[in-house]
Amino acid sequence: MLEPISHPLSNLGPQSPAQWQAAPLLFEHRLHLDPRFSREAIARTIERYPRRHYSIVHMGEQGANGKRVWREGDFGGLDGERVLEAIEHGRLWLNLRNGQDLEPHLLEVLTGLFGEAGTLAPPLSSYDHRMGLLVSSPGAQVYYHADLPGQGLLQLHGRKRIYVYPPRLPFLSAEGLENIALSQLEVGLHYDPAFDAQAAVFDLEPGQGLFWPLNSPHRIENHDCLNISMTLEYWTEEIRRNHMINLANAILRRHLGYTPRTRKLSGLSFYAKAALQAAWRRSGRLDALRRTARPVDFRLDAEVPGRIVDLAEPVR
Ligand SMILES: [Fe+2]
Repeated sequence: MLEPISHPLSNLGPQSPAQWQAAPLLFEHRLHLDPRFSREAIARTIERYPRRHYSIVHMGEQGANGKRVWREGDFGGLDGERVLEAIEHGRLWLNLRNGQDLEPHLLEVLTGLFGEAGTLAPPLSSYDHRMGLLVSSPGAQVYYHADLPGQGLLQLHGRKRIYVYPPRLPFLSAEGLENIALSQLEVGLHYDPAFDAQAAVFDLEPGQGLFWPLNSPHRIENHDCLNISMTLEYWTEEIRRNHMINLANAILRRHLGYTPRTRKLSGLSFYAKAALQAAWRRSGRLDALRRTARPVDFRLDAEVPGRIVDLAEPVR
C-alpha cells in the first residue's frame, strides 16, 4: 500500500532508498499534473533542445536475419508537437539527455526528488544526478539490460510495463556486469524468457515511478500509446567503488588472463584494482574499446508523421 503524498513532488521519504536497494520500489509523484510536463510544455522543451544532447532512434523493421537495424536521426526542422506526432505514429524513441544541465526546471525537479528521498545528505550522499526525458512510440520495447549507476523511472504520459529482475545469477553474472563496464554497452546480457517468472512486473501509469536495486536487469514494453517518461540517474561512493571493481575485474579477466575472485569494496585488493582501472582510463585504452556513435542518417518526414527520410549525406 502506498503512503499518502507528503512532499510537493512525490511520496518518497528518507526510508525510500533502503527500500529500493532491497527490492523495486513503486512510488507516487505529481509531475504528470505539473504544467511544466504537459504535452505542450514537452513539445517546447524538444524545440529548445541542443542537437548534441538528443538522440532520436528509429527501431527498424525486423530484417531477414531477424535483427532490427537501429538508426539515428534528426528532427528535420519539425516543431515539437510534430516530433511528438512522429513518435506517436512511428517506431521511434527520443532521448533528451542531460536535462539537469540544460533546463532549470529539470534540475529543480531532479534535486527536489532526491531531496525528498533524503539522499542528498549522509549516509547516502548521492551525487552526479542526471535526468533525461524519454519519448517513445506505442509498443516500443527496451530490451533486457542493466545499468551501472543507480536508476529510477517516472511515468509522465502513457503506460508501460517494466520487468525488473534480481541483480544476481542467473539474471546477472559478474562477467555480464564487467562487460557493460568495459564496453559501456548496456545490452548483451543473456536473457531467458523463463526469467520472467521471477521478475517484479509493474504497469507504470502517469503519476507513478520506480526505483530498483543497483544493477537490477530490466526490460520495458510500452502499451499501445505514446510514452513520455523521465529517467533518473545517481551515484554514491558505494556505486562508484562497485564500478571501479567491475572495470578492474573486466580488465583482469578479458585482457590479463586472470579470473578475479573478489568484489571487495575496500582493503588491499580494492586499492590495487582502483589503481589498475585508473591507469587504463588514463592510457586511453578504454576509449578504444568503447562504442563509436552511430551516424545520423535520417530525418523525420514533414508530410507523414512517423515516416523517416534517408539523408543524402550521413552526419557523424
Ligand atoms: Fe535501464
